[in-house]
Amino acid sequence: MNTYKLALIPGDGIGGDVTDAAMEILEATARRHDFALEPQRFDWSCARYLETGAMMPDDGIEVLRGFDAILLGAVGWPETVPDSVSLHGLLLPIRKAFDQYANIRPHRLLAGVEGPLKAEGFDILCIRENTEGEYSGAGGRVHRGHDNEVAVETAIFTRAGVERILRFAFEQARNRRGHVTSVTKSNAQKHSMVFWDEMTARVAADYPDVTVEPMHIDAMAAKMVMAPASLDVVVASNLFGDILTDLGAAIQGGLGFAASANIRPDRSAPSMFEPVHGSAPDIAGRGIANPIATVWSGAMMLDHLGEAEAAAQVMAAIEAATSRGIGTLPGRNSTDQITQAILAALEEQA
Ligand code: NAD
Ligand code: IPM
Ligand code: MN
Repeated sequence: MNTYKLALIPGDGIGGDVTDAAMEILEATARRHDFALEPQRFDWSCARYLETGAMMPDDGIEVLRGFDAILLGAVGWPETVPDSVSLHGLLLPIRKAFDQYANIRPHRLLAGVEGPLKAEGFDILCIRENTEGEYSGAGGRVHRGHDNEVAVETAIFTRAGVERILRFAFEQARNRRGHVTSVTKSNAQKHSMVFWDEMTARVAADYPDVTVEPMHIDAMAAKMVMAPASLDVVVASNLFGDILTDLGAAIQGGLGFAASANIRPDRSAPSMFEPVHGSAPDIAGRGIANPIATVWSGAMMLDHLGEAEAAAQVMAAIEAATSRGIGTLPGRNSTDQITQAILAALEEQA
């Protein structure tokens, strides 16, 4: 029997609620299949930062390296720890240290969910570059506090970095509806984004079976609302992908539905699975967070680990619950009610 070592990082706010829910469902699924999950829980969070002065221990990355996968809830508690400290002390270093360069974020309506647009069925796979671009961290501040203060933050686009994410996107399109929308802002940003467009054309030449459409980020934002069903794979830089995937979450019914996988495609380091949303301080502690985004991320994790059948059963159980109206509207059901409905649907499958 396969046993997967799982690093579980609930993090802050609703992160604990949604990872508890996901683990309950994933473990119930594992029991029905020929594999086991061996989770180890880490208290790395803003609470830990306030106690110890660090979001994670010095050897945190080395500790995580020994796991088959990481399941993360959410990081951030801006009331007590600045986001620039907490995210750069935990979430972002993991993505970069393990070179999880492909951030996969699916957006579609689950059965029974209408979403605010009441759009006809759409199925978008956003592929977000996850290690460089606008998140490179290159830059600095000079003359702090003086009138002539300057802040510089440089987006870095490397040929290797851009090419690999584009290839990843085209490979995904091959297994889907064969269309890639490559998002830039090359009408205004004339170096990096023109370079991205050129790389798109170059990579596209290797995929004659895939159609490609370059699109500017502003037009893309409108298209996701006006004609989401016309989109298949969408590939974008780190920041553009970040923004578009909250928009994607919105059109699929809310942040409680949007799943994500931070993938190291060559599997030489663990990949990390987490919902798109954050710690939701406005609803934390009230037991009403929608766990579906995290459960879906957990299904993506099972799929990545090679347990495709179990992953499909988790997705079917989620949709059995939503098709009965459970969790389909914000605030309609508690975290626990949604979790129990998914567990019941898993039981019914047996
Ligand atoms: P957020 O995603 O936490 O919340 C935005 C809105 O969506 C809130 O109204 C919230 O209640 C709602 N929401 C989010 N998840 C939900 C769920 N599962 N069920 C129901 N409603 C949900 O974004 P924010 O408020 O901008 O950020 C809060 C903190 O989280 C900040 O510290 C931010 O930096 C951090 N953050 C972390 C991650 C991450 O860890 N991956 C992602 C985004 C934001
Ligand atoms: C996300 C989040 C993070 C990001 C933040 C919290 C740094 O918004 O995963 O979408 O921008 O990548
Ligand atoms: Mn985001």
